[in-house]
Amino acid sequence: MSYPPSNYRRAFLQFLAGSPLLTTYEAFAAEVEETLGEKLTDPSQVINIFEMEDIAREKIPPAHYGYLISGTDSDGSLHANRMGYTRFQIRPRRLVNVRNIDTSINFLGAEAGSPIFTSPVGSCGGFHKDSDIGVARATAAKNHHMILSTQASDPIEDVMAARDGKGMWFQLYSTNRWENTVAMLQRAERAGCTTVCFTIDLPSGRNVETQTLWQRVDDRFCEECHYDGKQKPMMEGLPPAGLVDPALTWDVIGRMKDATSMNVMVKGLETAEDADAAVRAGCDGIIVSNHGGRATDTGRGTIECLPEVIAAVRGRIPVMVDGGIRRGTDVFKALALGATAVGIGRPYCWGLGAFGQAGVERVLDLLDREFRITMGGSGVTSLAQLSNDYILDTGMRNPDEFTSFVP
Ligand SMILES: Cc1cc2nc3c(=O)[nH]c(=O)nc-3n(C[C@H](O)[C@H](O)[C@H](O)COP(=O)(O)O)c2cc1C
Repeated sequence: MSYPPSNYRRAFLQFLAGSPLLTTYEAFAAEVEETLGEKLTDPSQVINIFEMEDIAREKIPPAHYGYLISGTDSDGSLHANRMGYTRFQIRPRRLVNVRNIDTSINFLGAEAGSPIFTSPVGSCGGFHKDSDIGVARATAAKNHHMILSTQASDPIEDVMAARDGKGMWFQLYSTNRWENTVAMLQRAERAGCTTVCFTIDLPSGRNVETQTLWQRVDDRFCEECHYDGKQKPMMEGLPPAGLVDPALTWDVIGRMKDATSMNVMVKGLETAEDADAAVRAGCDGIIVSNHGGRATDTGRGTIECLPEVIAAVRGRIPVMVDGGIRRGTDVFKALALGATAVGIGRPYCWGLGAFGQAGVERVLDLLDREFRITMGGSGVTSLAQLSNDYILDTGMRNPDEFTSFVP
């Protein structure tokens, strides 16, 4: 688990933050900015995702930061997502002409210059005032595809407008009121989304201990998140309902396909059995995901789950993966193991929390650069060339590989 810092600076900031009754993000951010002299203030100077994380940790209010980094239970799956990548090594080829490298993708209405998507993250307004619209502008500027959360802080129509005509996918929590589910599907479709990513990995809640620990050191009331009766924009005008329906089974996919003409992807499966069930149910795509280690604490990294899902799907529908991607080499490994594209969650939120839209852009630039270096360095010039032949599965995680990052 990640324990909140108990250093004097944090305590001083909390003291500065003043009223325990009401604190907006802006008030906190202004105070933090003043004391941030020793940290980088220019996003272009940030060297990698880990340094961005470091800056974000100082700038995001502790309770919100705890929400962002938390896994479940002892954060076993969160840790596994990262460590899983150390199992797989890259087998590069030399003396290949790699002057021109093409990383573009085009599937299910997602057209982008990079296979790195931003996965849906709820309540982005709690990390920076630029919020989801900042993420939309950044992803559009850098030509990346975006998936917007049901729990987004900004209305889907405004976020779509900020995408500059580049389109977007919508992530759905199917509530326990079917008419709400249908209303959200129709609204997303009207807004111009081509694909809905239906999240299926949280049927029974979760035990977020890291989040709770961070909230203990920051119990101020944040109006951005929690004033009485506040609903997320996607729920506005809908009757009250639970966020998920614990009774759903695979037949819901057919009902969803009847209710929308968007493609229906499932997000949050980890096994060959479920991959097969998804194909049989008529899904148009799969995102192998454990909610960034925030769903069941399985202890399995998503990259370790990917090969069995790819084998079960046999190329019939596209498969994406997210969870623990922090390096261009991770993207390379996932695509070589059969993913069509990958998603990142926390990395872009660290960029957002650290510098707003500019920080998200920097995160995308960093990962794109590292990925292209890995492509060229491995003798690969297009995503279609990537295959298992470029990977060695050692069957064992290597705890020594990460010197600069301990999850
Ligand atoms: C703070 C936070 C909020 C999230 N909210 C959602 C959400 O609303 N819907 C969803 O399907 N996944 C959600 N996720 C999961 C992400 O879409 C994604 O699967 C995960 O972050 C990928 O792992 P990574 O953070 O290690 O990159 C959330 C993740 C985080 C960290």
